[in-house]
Amino acid sequence: MRAVGEEDVSALAGLLISMRLRESWLRDPELTSDDESPFYALAARRARDPDTVLLVAYGDGQPVGFYCGQVRGQVGRGIDLYVRPPARRRGVGRLLVSAALAEYRARGADRLVGSLPGDEGCHAFWASIWTEHPSRLVSTRSTPGMEWRTRSLAREAREGREGEASGPPHRGQGQPAGQSNP
Ligand SMILES: CC(C)(COP(=O)(O)OP(=O)(O)OC[C@H]1O[C@@H](n2cnc3c(N)ncnc32)[C@H](O)[C@@H]1OP(=O)(O)O)[C@@H](O)C(=O)NCCC(=O)NCCS
Repeated sequence: MRAVGEEDVSALAGLLISMRLRESWLRDPELTSDDESPFYALAARRARDPDTVLLVAYGDGQPVGFYCGQVRGQVGRGIDLYVRPPARRRGVGRLLVSAALAEYRARGADRLVGSLPGDEGCHAFWASIWTEHPSRLVSTRSTPGMEWRTRSLAREAREGREGEASGPPHRGQGQPAGQSNP
């Protein structure tokens, strides 16, 4: 797994295409495999953006997953997380998110906002992440089929408030933030 560089742009575009074409929660009925060039442009744009946290994972030399987020001031924003179906349940998602959390902290973020589609596997995945990396849930906001969550990345929240990490969500102001990091 590594931060995306020029040499990874094509791999990242392939993962974006796979995510957009195949995942029901993002499927665009008007998108066909002929419309791939926007994904290459998007991948290149993200790779160039210094505020973007962009990681790609490889397995047997093939791209198997990626994480994309952004840091603005002290706020980290999860945008995309995707692992190709054949590579799932092998710890790739966990590896990507653990590296992304370290990167957010290294860049000075103290909060992480992201959205969670109403998908059981996704909820289970994030529950396992926050068990491994205890974090205070700051606020949540929901609309049908989607929930936005803000979590603290502060050191004291990680060390002293494990109980809150697994407790019921507080209702409050979240912030729309793509598909990741709830
Ligand atoms: C969610 C996703 C990124 C998880 O990636 P992954 O590489 O399969 O996740 P990991 O192997 O690191 O899983 C870590 C833990 O999360 C939990 N978990 C992950 N997927 C799960 C599922 N479908 N059902 C139940 N628990 C799950 C498990 O506790 C797992 O540990 P275990 O395998 O030792 O039991 C992947 O399924 C995916 O890309 N899904 C489609 C896109 C998506 O939902 N993106 C994220 C939106 S929030």
